[in-house]
Amino acid sequence: MSRILYAENLRKVYPNGVEALRGVSIEVLEGEVVGLMGPSGSGKSTLLHLLAGLEKPTGGRVYLLDKELTSMDEGELAELRKRYIAFVFQFYYLLEDFNVLENLSLIGELAGIKGAKERALDILEYLRLTHRLKHRPSQLSGGEQQRVAIGRALMLEPKLLLADEPTGNLDLAEGRRIFELFLRLREEKGLSFLVATHNEAMRDYFDRIYRLKDGRLDV
Ligand SMILES: Nc1ncnc2c1ncn2[C@@H]1O[C@H](COP(=O)(O)OP(=O)(O)OP(=O)(O)O)[C@@H](O)[C@H]1O
Ligand SMILES: [Mg+2]
Repeated sequence: MSRILYAENLRKVYPNGVEALRGVSIEVLEGEVVGLMGPSGSGKSTLLHLLAGLEKPTGGRVYLLDKELTSMDEGELAELRKRYIAFVFQFYYLLEDFNVLENLSLIGELAGIKGAKERALDILEYLRLTHRLKHRPSQLSGGEQQRVAIGRALMLEPKLLLADEPTGNLDLAEGRRIFELFLRLREEKGLSFLVATHNEAMRDYFDRIYRLKDGRLDV
């Protein structure tokens, strides 16, 4: 299996002096669903942000499809990120002034893809949200909002989906449905996943788990 993502010896020291990561190396292979677990404050979100290029590491390197992210300029980075990586946040960050359909189609339109609306409709059907197209985010359940956020992440056909506590606000049954959706997306669309979660109940969905403790991998 080919390697989608590889990070080598990542370190992150925040401006206030907090050492959030102290040398972390991880990889994600094509088609893998990989977990990132560890106590609060252990560095999970920081690691995901570095991997997505949302923040710069203090040290170490990130390779996406064997291209090195850390040495790219903002333009190159934005392009690569847009094409291959999608990020799903715990608190969805949906646009409240727009309905469900628009929350997806806007992403496609902003990126200049043709048929953004049709693509949004396809994805929403896939996510069983066709009956909610005209709803505003605040009119949806937590699980529905998380599915919209995932749908938005799928708009640009990523290879890798990074998710930070995607079930953190959901009950167990709804959380399981999100993970089952991840497995289906892996089967049907060949996506790979790196998912940070506190929730030990989701352990069995992962092919492999990296455990972080105090900014280091706990092995
Ligand atoms: N922007 C920031 N500036 C300074 N310190 C930060 C910043 N973001 C995170 N930290 C610190 O870095 C460490 C790792 O934080 P991080 O958010 O990565 O942990 P986490 O494993 O995601 O925790 P949680 O499970 O609570 O989400 C913590 O000590 C945190 O206080
Ligand atoms: Mg976090």
